[in-house]
Formats: sequence, structure tokens, C-alpha cells
Amino acid sequence: MKWMNVEETLRGAEEPLFWVGAFTVASLALWLVYRLLSGFRIWVLGNGKLLSPKLGKWAVVTGATDGIGKSYAEELARRGFAMMLISRSQEKLDDVARMLQVLYNVETKTIAVDFGKSDIYCRIEAALAGLEVGVLVNNVGVSYSYPEYYLHIPDLENFISNMINVNMTSVCQVCNSVFFFFPFFCRSKGVILNISSASGMYPVPLLTVYSATKAFVDFFSRGLQEEYRRQGIIIQSVLPFFVATKMTRIRKPTLDKPTPDRYVAAELSTVGLQSQTNGYFPHAIMGWVTTKLVPSSIVIFLGARMNRLQRTGYLQRRR
Ligand SMILES: NC(=O)c1ccc[n+]([C@@H]2O[C@H](COP(=O)([O-])OP(=O)(O)OC[C@H]3O[C@@H](n4cnc5c(N)ncnc54)[C@H](OP(=O)(O)O)[C@@H]3O)[C@@H](O)[C@H]2O)c1
Repeated sequence: MKWMNVEETLRGAEEPLFWVGAFTVASLALWLVYRLLSGFRIWVLGNGKLLSPKLGKWAVVTGATDGIGKSYAEELARRGFAMMLISRSQEKLDDVARMLQVLYNVETKTIAVDFGKSDIYCRIEAALAGLEVGVLVNNVGVSYSYPEYYLHIPDLENFISNMINVNMTSVCQVCNSVFFFFPFFCRSKGVILNISSASGMYPVPLLTVYSATKAFVDFFSRGLQEEYRRQGIIIQSVLPFFVATKMTRIRKPTLDKPTPDRYVAAELSTVGLQSQTNGYFPHAIMGWVTTKLVPSSIVIFLGARMNRLQRTGYLQRRR
């Protein structure tokens, strides 16, 4: 009689536990299916056709003469956009403009400015006035020439103002020029891609100023997207890991360090699907591991170790 009571009590207690377990497993399964389907939508199907001159005749790319910016310029010209290229050296701008005209038969304009300076935006606004801009890629950026402790950075004052002007002020000011002058709002369409960096996802010691400027770009983009989402404007924060360019001095591209062309082709498929993206499937996995799986204190510790080693190697080679 006593045993029966114990058995019944246990069965009674098991039933709610069973439902809690079943609910947890079902929720996890639904979450997994949702993640797989949205991953398939982003990385396999993509949204490649969104970026076309239907958004507006012109695409504007800053830092368009090399690396990732040059690849954006080429890919957007291939899609039929007339190209406004903004960079530092007129000679390099002319080369890229000529290449785009020959390869894709598109109209091009150039503006040679140094984004390290702050008195350049009147010139940019004057050159952009009257153009129907559909896409803006805020790509220009500079990093350290080698990883260094903050107080040991050579010519620190100029370094700080140059990096802030190029990496942060340019993004805010060129967005301002595009918003102010063009019927972005009236047409209720337009895309702005702001190139941040994976280094903006967590602090990267010995590249601290760069990393902080890229966190700014990420926050600025995500905030602005929410402010203007209802007007039909897409603002995307792009956070690449390593890409084989002049900036990283990676000469041999690999799966996780792609060529800029490969990176940009993948990134453009995510526009309209992700407001914050690593832009390229292997980078998305690296982003997930370093933000969701590994505690940030470990990521910061390992980043510091890697950069200390690189610094030592660089200084030894220089000696
Ligand atoms: N490469 C990567 O692994 C990586 C990773 C994460 C994020 N990013 C970001 O992606 C963007 C592009 O990087 P990238 O590797 O393609 O760089 P890059 O190869 O060094 O090219 C930078 C471009 O910006 C121009 N530029 C540099 N300083 C300028 C200035 N003061 N005024 C005007 N133009 C200037 C350069 O012109 P010149 O040819 O005249 O120098 C060049 O066209 C940057 O914002 C970077 O932070 C890159």
C-alpha cells in the first residue's frame, strides 16, 4: 500500500517534468530549424538582385582605389551603376575610372580628397550635388602600420586625429552629404554600407584605437538603420575579419582570408537580409565563435597575445 503511494507520487511529479522537457526540446528544435533556414536564405539563396540602378543611377564608394573599396566599385559598375569614386590620389582614381569605363561601359566621376583632413566635405557635397545616388559605400579606413601599445605609437597626436577623421568622421559626414542632397527620402529607397571590422566587435589590444573607431562605425550604422528603416532606407554595418589587401599585407588568399573580390561578392548578397553582417560565410562562423561561444575576456587575451607576437616580430625585422 505504501509502495503504491510512492509510485503514484513519483508519476505525478514526473508528468510536469516531462512537459517541461518536451517544451524545451521542441523550442530548441524550432530555434535550430529557424537558424538553418535563415542561414540558407542568407548564405545560399542571398539577396544578390537588390543592388541595381533601380535604387538610383549613381553609386558612391570612398577609398575606391584599392582593396575592398576597389572591389565594391568594380562589382557595382558590373551591375550597371554610374560610379562616383572618392579617394586620395587622382592618378589612381583615373586608373580605376578608366578600367570601369572600358570593362563595364559606365559613366564615372572622381573626387580626390584626403579623408585625414576635416575641411574636404564642401568639395564632396559640391561634386555630389544633383546626382541621383542609390548606393553609398563608406569604405575608406586606415589601420596601424604594426600593432603597438597606445603610448608608444609614433607621432601619437597626428595618428589619433588622422584615424578618427578617416575612420569615423568620414562615415558621418558622407552619410550627411548623401542624406542632405539627394532625394533618398522622397524616393524611399537607397542603401548605405558602412565598412566596420570584426575588430569592432570586441576590443583588440595593441590595435586599440582602430578597434574603437570600428566599434563606433558599427554602433553608428545600427542606430541610423533603426532611425531610417521606416523610410525604406537600408543601412548595413559590415564587419569583415581578415581580407587579403594592402592593409593586411596578406598576399596569399585562403578560405578564411579571401580576396577582396570574393569577399565583396558574398557581402552584397547579405544586403537587406542582415543589418549587421560579417559578410562572408567563414567570417560569420568566426564571428559566432568569438562572440557567442568563447567568453570575451578570452578573445581579448588571445588578441593581445597575437598582437604582442606580431609587434615583436615587426620590431626585430626593423632592427
Ligand atoms: N582588409 C581587411 O582585412 C579588413 C578587415 C576588416 C575591415 N576592413 C576595413 O575595410 C576598409 C577597406 O580596407 P582595405 O583593406 O581594402 O584597405 P586598403 O587596401 O588599404 O585600401 C584603402 C583605400 O582607402 C584609400 N585611403 C586610405 N587613406 C585615405 C585617405 N586619408 N584619404 C582618402 N583615401 C584614403 C586608399 O587610397 P590609396 O590607394 O591612395 O592609399 C585605398 O583606396 C577599411 O575601412 C578597413 O578598416 C578591412
